[in-house]
Amino acid sequence: MQENTSNYIAAGGKGTFSEHYTARYDYAIFRPSLRENVVFAQHNLVTDASFNLFNVIFCRNVLIYFNNVLQDRVQRLFLDSMDMFGILGLGKKETITYTSVIDSYEVIDADERLYRRIR
Ligand SMILES: C[S@@+](CC[C@H](N)C(=O)[O-])C[C@H]1O[C@@H](n2cnc3c(N)ncnc32)[C@H](O)[C@@H]1O
Repeated sequence: MQENTSNYIAAGGKGTFSEHYTARYDYAIFRPSLRENVVFAQHNLVTDASFNLFNVIFCRNVLIYFNNVLQDRVQRLFLDSMDMFGILGLGKKETITYTSVIDSYEVIDADERLYRRIR
């Protein structure tokens, strides 16, 4: 939670981070008001189709285990699921460079592997 608190402050969070959760011995519970609009769903990148249109997709450190064909399938899935100008975040060793969606994104931050859908 210390690292999350630092991130909250660095991101310009208002008030104190601790007002958003209740700390327990080895875990924390976020306030219900923060959770009530969040949909938690399990999604299989290999077998499932697009199920929504998103503004942000983070998919970190799983594509490195997929071969090129599967990586391309997943990137097509993300593109189908990404709203225009939506943000894609990958793991530090992952890239869209060698996939068929490369022309649909612009690089926001190459080191952080952040991309924005532009077409
Ligand atoms: C190395 S972990 C990375 C976890 C986290 N994203 C991170 O960066 O610390 C890989 C994750 O990919 C998930 N994963 C593996 N195959 C998947 C699939 N076919 N569809 C969705 N998630 C999958 C695993 O459950 C695991 O949580």
